[in-house]
Parts: sequence; structure tokens; C-alpha cells
Amino acid sequence: MVGYQTERSRLINWVEAHLQHPSPSMMVIQGEAGIGKTQLMNALLLWIQAQGISYAIGSGDAIERLTPYYPWRQILRQLLQLDDLADPQTRRSSISQSLQLPAELSPLTSLLNPILGVNFPETALIQDMSPSVHAENTRFILLEILRRCCETHQPIIFLETLNGWTLPLGARSWRSASSLFPSSLS
Ligand SMILES: Nc1ncnc2c1ncn2[C@@H]1O[C@H](COP(=O)(O)OP(=O)(O)OP(=O)(O)O)[C@@H](O)[C@H]1O
Ligand SMILES: [Mg+2]
Repeated sequence: MVGYQTERSRLINWVEAHLQHPSPSMMVIQGEAGIGKTQLMNALLLWIQAQGISYAIGSGDAIERLTPYYPWRQILRQLLQLDDLADPQTRRSSISQSLQLPAELSPLTSLLNPILGVNFPETALIQDMSPSVHAENTRFILLEILRRCCETHQPIIFLETLNGWTLPLGARSWRSASSLFPSSLS
């Protein structure tokens, strides 16, 4: 990659600070089309991979605009290391083991089925939910899982190419997600 030394150093310093003092924080790279944002991100990604730092990438690919929770499904599948597990039952066991979800969340876990390719049993509670309550609870369980993954691995999460993408978590949940990453945007 050509140039952007200052920006690259700034990003690396930010990651190093995050590793020394893990705390939720967010860095936004914005600029005109074709200016090199993805190149800059890829340069940081190479460095992160070389350091062995945990990371996940979600992309707001326009073609997947109608896929519910698309960026987050990519990110959670990576953080939970589900991509190598084809069988829904194996994925489910892996999630249960790695996250140790409390019993009170069990009635909601089947909401993850279409998003993470798992097969938690669906309860009557879920079947009786109105669409809006269903969506609200789906966002809740997704955020809870994201929070638990972040606690365990302190990953760097990349959200790429979100231009024009209405964040599928919706404004309300995005605010909740933002509260996981509260420091100021730069
Ligand atoms: N600093 C750079 N060094 C090398 N190649 C660059 C640089 N900046 C841009 N390019 C090249 O220009 C093209 C666009 O770069 P890139 O995809 O990173 O832009 P972008 O800002 O992510 O664009 P978009 O907003 O469309 O996603 C690519 O082919 C990339 O290789
Ligand atoms: Mg780009």
C-alpha cells in the first residue's frame, strides 16, 4: 500500500492501546469512494493477523442487503468459530460450551437458529411472539452473545462498507451496540 503512514500508525497505536488496556472503543475510517479505506483496513488487518490478535470482519455487501443481520451474522460466526462446523447440532453444542449462557436466556436461543445455522429448540414463547417482539428479542440475544464474545476474546471487529446500509440491528439496537463501544468517534 502506498502512503497513509500517519493513518496506519494511528490505527496500530489504537490497537496497541486497546491490548494494553482492554476497553470498548471504536475507530471510524471514512472518506470518498476509492480513496483507499479498504486498503488501509487491509493493511491493519495484516498487522493484526501477524500479531495473532483476535478479530472478525463484517461487511455491508449491497447484495446481502435483505439478509437479516448480515454484518453481525458474519462477525458472530467468526467469533464463535462456527464456519468449520457444518452440522447445526455441533454448532449448538459449541455455542453452549463456549458461552455458558445462563438458564434465563434459554427460551430465546432458538431466535439464533436462522442467523447462526443452529438448532436450539423453539419454545411456545417464541411461537407466540408478535413480529416486533420477535425482532426485539432477536436483537437482544444477538447483542448478549456479541457482548460475551467480546468479554472473552477482546476482538477487533471490522465493519466494512456500510455506506447506505441501514444497519440491520436497527437504530435502537445500534445504540445498545454502540454502548459496548462508547468512546468518541474519530
Ligand atoms: N494508498 C493506496 N495504495 C495503493 N493502492 C491504493 C491506495 N489507495 C487506493 N488504492 C487503490 O485504489 C482502489 C480503491 O481503493 P479502496 O478499495 O481501498 O478504496 P475505498 O476507499 O475502500 O473505496 P470505496 O469507498 O469504494 O469502498 C483499489 O484498487 C486500491 O488498490
Ligand atoms: Mg472500500
